[in-house]
Amino acid sequence: MTSRVAVVTGGTRGIGKAISIALKAAGHKVAANYGGSDEAAKAFNAETGIPIYKFDVSNFAAVQAGVAKITAELGPIDIVVNNAGITRDGTLHKMEQDQWQAVIDTNLGSCFNMCRAVIDGMRARSFGRIVNIGSINGQAGQYGQVNYAAAKSGMHGFTKALAQEGAGKGITVNAIAPGYVDTDMVRAVPPAVLEKIIARIPVGRLGHAEDIARGVLFLTADDADFITGSTLSINGGQHMY
Ligand code: CAA
Repeated sequence: MTSRVAVVTGGTRGIGKAISIALKAAGHKVAANYGGSDEAAKAFNAETGIPIYKFDVSNFAAVQAGVAKITAELGPIDIVVNNAGITRDGTLHKMEQDQWQAVIDTNLGSCFNMCRAVIDGMRARSFGRIVNIGSINGQAGQYGQVNYAAAKSGMHGFTKALAQEGAGKGITVNAIAPGYVDTDMVRAVPPAVLEKIIARIPVGRLGHAEDIARGVLFLTADDADFITGSTLSINGGQHMY
């Protein structure tokens, strides 16, 4: 297996942490991006030995600088996992404009920023693996999440468009649509609401972050070169799409 340089956004916590660890275990050089908690990122680095890079993925210039730093320190980037995401839940009639904008910029804008920063190199080297972490709620919608559902749904459209552009250049672009996974984000859902959601998951449990990381390894493998523009749903059977 060829060892590659991989970047995971939001790669120090939750699903991103499991993805970073899995890519490292598969023999890749991993850069774990984060934007929030220094404490969690330092603990992640101490636990895994994976280098951490703090920059705001919703900021175009910050991403350009962050990607340049990773490239200088680890080498040209072959694998990008756009995983960073936030929620600012609320019904539309109570939603403030900043709740909308923050989610669109962080979850969807980041996808453009990261891909734009690496695409020239991938095209020049005729190799790239991009995985966008969407959501079941981008496929099915979710009460209280017009912002999040729109951003995640946008990521699925982005995936299919960029897949067409990359197909002749050795660059695959796929999405994973996780269901409800046991992370801080899902644990923040009001307990009574979460209980009802879990009751609707046929497998009968929340997902584990590792369930999603398994899909990332599959889609980023060198020999996954015929899989592009697809969405892999990993949701315990909650939404069959
Ligand atoms: N479908 C239909 N009705 C619903 C509903 C649903 N899913 N959820 C709530 N309602 C109803 C309630 O029953 C209630 O109705 P009544 O007033 O008639 O009793 C009404 O909506 C108001 O509900 P709340 O009291 O909860 O209203 P709120 O304004 O305090 O909160 C909310 C609304 C913010 C949407 C809250 O219900 C919530 O946080 N829901 C969870 C949203 C969710 O699932 N987010 C996913 C986060 S995890 C994630 O995003 C990761 C991923 O990719 C899967």
